[in-house]
Amino acid sequence: MQSITLRRPDDWHLHLRDGAILRSVVPHTAKQFARAIVMPNLNPPITTVDSAMAYRQRILDVLEVPSNFNPLMTLYLTDSTSTEEIKRAAQCPHIVGCKLYPAGATTHSDSGVTNLDKIQPILKSMERFDVPLLVHGEVTDPNIDIFDREQAFIDQHLTKIVDHFGQLRIVLEHITTEQAVQFVSEARAGVAATITPQHLLFNRNAILIGGIKPHNYCLPVLKREHHRTALVQAATSGNSKFFLGTDSAPHAKAQKESNCGCAGCFTAHAALELYAEVFERAGCLDKLNDFASVFGANFYRLPINAGTVRLEKNDWVVPDSYPFASDCVVPFKAGETLGWALSTDDAAPIRKSDDTPHPNQTA
Ligand code: NCD
Ligand code: ZN
Repeated sequence: MQSITLRRPDDWHLHLRDGAILRSVVPHTAKQFARAIVMPNLNPPITTVDSAMAYRQRILDVLEVPSNFNPLMTLYLTDSTSTEEIKRAAQCPHIVGCKLYPAGATTHSDSGVTNLDKIQPILKSMERFDVPLLVHGEVTDPNIDIFDREQAFIDQHLTKIVDHFGQLRIVLEHITTEQAVQFVSEARAGVAATITPQHLLFNRNAILIGGIKPHNYCLPVLKREHHRTALVQAATSGNSKFFLGTDSAPHAKAQKESNCGCAGCFTAHAALELYAEVFERAGCLDKLNDFASVFGANFYRLPINAGTVRLEKNDWVVPDSYPFASDCVVPFKAGETLGWALSTDDAAPIRKSDDTPHPNQTA
């Protein structure tokens, strides 16, 4: 197949950051996706409808006018989130869910929930007002091995939440294990999962063999090969519970290449191309459209987008870096050749004023 046309897709899990960095990264996503769910883990976090709406406006302000990119916002749950705020979120058309970060689980999660018992009334109110719960599903217990933290979260917490709040819509974000695939597949209706390109393409060898590869390090961390194959099977199965969420999470090059490197892979530069590689290799390119453009919209009860994007069989080399405010970000698969390319015919106008290319940008 030389080209594939998809309904204009959406990214159901994305980090855009803020300020000058936001300006550098949002065009990558706006070029590929009609909508994206923007994570609230800024510092300080987005915990109120007012702060989410102000953040949304900052995102829109760096886009071309008129832009057809629609940022969908989330609130960051803390121990002190109020039920009034949940009610306000439910009434706001631009807010699509609340994000649960167990405190300490990942980047900027320090203000997250320290004990799930503390947010039982919040979960009740989210169920009542039909506000989806988006979950970073890892325990933070230092005694639990990092490779087992997703499964432990499912066993210790998620099972109970799913049972206890039977009408609550839940997305287990960026799943990484065959246990997560099995849990979501067997769960009641209203429980779904997003899957990232890096967890579909790589297993943990990609971080550790031939030297430490900090740009392949994200949370939840890449797992063994049998987990990767279970994720590919789920993504390409046509099961509507599994849909696209890149978890593109950019950090400055120096903060990744450090003695305490940040977690997060930047994939927004080539998200659709990376997913196409996975689906093609699995012999399931015909399943990519639903995964990228239909299942997530149905879960969030949003319309399927108008318009299409086209991917073509065309080799291109991923640049060594992209501009990132006054710094640079190393993209996923930097310097490697990708076999699919987003057709430029479909490229939307993306920003008001262009960044000057960063000196480190090589292509
Ligand atoms: C994310 C980030 O950098 O904000 N990092 C990551 O490794 N995925 C946070 C998250 O989604 O865990
Ligand atoms: Zn994330």
